[in-house]
Amino acid sequence: MSQTSQSTILPKARKRPQFRNIHVSQIVSYSLPPAGMVSILHRISGAALFLFLPLLLWLFDLSLISELSFARLAEIAGQWWMKLILLGLMWAFLHHLVAGIRYLVLDLHIGLDKGPSRSSALAVFAVSIPLTLLAGLRLFGVF
Ligand code: HEM
Repeated sequence: MSQTSQSTILPKARKRPQFRNIHVSQIVSYSLPPAGMVSILHRISGAALFLFLPLLLWLFDLSLISELSFARLAEIAGQWWMKLILLGLMWAFLHHLVAGIRYLVLDLHIGLDKGPSRSSALAVFAVSIPLTLLAGLRLFGVF
């Protein structure tokens, strides 16, 4: 069929919307809804927990071997930079735990609608952030 006869038969093509993945340079300016923030942070916290497992196991090991190794652990864990790392890992654990429970509930088809899903995403932050702050205060010896 010739090009001219094709254009007479087919309706005029409408301009359709195009959906693209965001570019890496847009990450900071892209505003995600709360559920999207929980999701990306769940992935980041899962990866952080996994990548820092060797450090945590080493610290755990030091806590068990002997009195001397326990003293070494106390010395290492007393450094401010180690406290910051541990605080970051506590946030990762608490966010991952609370968001993970949210996902397990969503997997049961509970709270899938837009409103409840947004509320449960905000609840993840409302639980995990104060718990992290509390852990931070304890870690830095405020109480
Ligand atoms: C504390 C209890 C935990 C709960 C309740 C939990 C829950 C979950 C759930 C439900 C998922 C799947 C999320 C989805 O459907 O996309 C997940 C993914 C994952 N979890 Fe956990 N998890 C826990 C602890 C951990 C720990 C200790 C680690 C690491 C050592 C970890 C690492 C990961 C990773 C890497 C993923 C994949 C994340 C992704 O690719 O998006 N989780 N977790």
